[in-house]
Parts: sequence; structure tokens; C-alpha cells
Amino acid sequence: MATREIANEIVLVDIKEGFAEGKALDIWQKAPIIGYDSRTVGVTSDYARTAGSDVVVITSGLPRKPGMSRDDLISTNAGIVKSVTEQVVKYSPNAIIIIVSNPLDVMTYQAHLTSGLPREKVFGMAGILDTARYRAFLAEALNVSPKDIQAVLMGGHGDTMVPLPRYTTVGGIPVTELIGKAELDAIVQRTAQGGGELVKLMGTSAWYAPGAAAAQMVEAIVRDQRRVFPVCIKLEGEYGIDGVYLGAPVILGKNGIEKVIELQLNDEEKALLETSRGHVKEVMDALDKMTANA
Ligand code: LAC
Repeated sequence: MATREIANEIVLVDIKEGFAEGKALDIWQKAPIIGYDSRTVGVTSDYARTAGSDVVVITSGLPRKPGMSRDDLISTNAGIVKSVTEQVVKYSPNAIIIIVSNPLDVMTYQAHLTSGLPREKVFGMAGILDTARYRAFLAEALNVSPKDIQAVLMGGHGDTMVPLPRYTTVGGIPVTELIGKAELDAIVQRTAQGGGELVKLMGTSAWYAPGAAAAQMVEAIVRDQRRVFPVCIKLEGEYGIDGVYLGAPVILGKNGIEKVIELQLNDEEKALLETSRGHVKEVMDALDKMTANA
């Protein structure tokens, strides 16, 4: 975000004493080299310093360890996302909130419950990251620039995510004309497990691509770019789904979600989306049950 110069000030908050201060200082010392003037400030749990923020990105929570699914994090991270969201809205009642914490779709639901914000103002980052992984794998397989690969993806941020090869193009050419079905299927499969692949390699979750994806969303909002991205949003009737948080293509601008785009899915794609919906709904119900028992 700092290198994109999309904010005059970026405040990092962490609960670990001195950690955000250190990160912010390190990023600020990069400014003279790279050449940008967004100020970065770090604080330990001092949400007052974030007062009046336009956009807040919540990444708080435990990351996965190898062998864990994102859903295994639900009980710990729901409590963390709840308390962070309370602090955020206390000091920045007009902020647009972007959730990155996992399990993504259900943590976005948690932030919605806690903040009471409408779906246009509280949504999750997953689709840009998941399509970025898909586009990167395709760029490698086709030996072309990742810039020229356009893609959209739907569903939850987990193994049931739904990449849509029918809507994937390479410099305007349908990807299905450039790659065989078996190879494409393997890439779709690798994409669905793309986060897990990194957790296995590093022992914790990814940060460069997720950070870049969140920054791209913030930029679309603060610059009112009206960019078309897959974003995790509460569907309210679109795709025949009501009240479930799922990835879908939207237009992002100064009001947050400006519009949800409804694609004409074929039967196979609809079936995949239904599987993903069922999975996310199950975890949302588990969260509701935990909240009721708390
Ligand atoms: C990932 C985490 C951020 O997919 O969910 O890498």
C-alpha cells in the first residue's frame, strides 16, 4: 500500500509489543530508496491511533500450520476478529472493512455481525489472491506474461473454490484454445490448494501475494477505480443464494462494493458453486452455534 501511494498515512496495529512499530519503521526507511511518501506508523494495540481511517484491512488471527484446514482456525480466530472489529468501528465508524483472516468467508461473516455494517462496506479478500495463483500457474504453463491472463473465480476461499476456465482469457484468447483439458484441470486443482501448498513449504501462511491483493482492493476503493474483482461478499439473492458469504465478481469503488455481477453459469459451474455454498454455510452455522453457546 505504501509503495502504491494510495494513502497519506498507513497505521499498522499488532498485539505483539513493538512488532508493528518495527515493521512500520522498516517500511518507512524503504521510502527514500523506492521513492514514495506514504507515511507508515506502527502501534501496539492502540486503536485510538487508527481513528478516522477510510479503509481498514483485518488480517488478525492465527495462521495455519501444515496439515490444518482454514476451518480449523474458526474458534480462535472468530474471537480475535470480533474484538478487533469492535475496536475498529469504535474509532472509525465510517471505514470500509476488508477481511483477510481465515477461515475467510466465515470471518467476513463475523466482522459483519460485529460491525453491523451493510455488505457493501464489509467484505473479504480471497478472489484476487486465488485468481492470482491461478493466473501465475497458467503463465508458467503457457510461458506467457502473467499480466495477460484475465480470470474470475467464485465460491469460498478453500478447497471448494470454483475457478472458471470458461471465463479465463490470455490476451483476449479463451484459455481453452491454448491448453489441454488435463493440464488445465491440474492447474485448477493446484489453485484450490494453493494456500495449503505454501503453508506446507513455509510452516505458516503466505503474505506477499495476500498483501498485494489486499492493497489492490484498497487502491480500487480510495481511487474510486470501479475495478472488477472477485471478492467475498454476502450474497443476497444473486446466483439463487441468500445470506451466505461467497466469492463473486463485483465492481469495487469509493462506496466499497458498487455492484455484484451475475454471470450466466452453466450446470457444471452451478453444481460446483452449490458444493462450495454448502461447505461455507456449514462453517457459518458452526460459528452461529459457538456464538449461541458463548
Ligand atoms: C492464503 C491465505 C491468506 O490463501 O488464506 O494464502
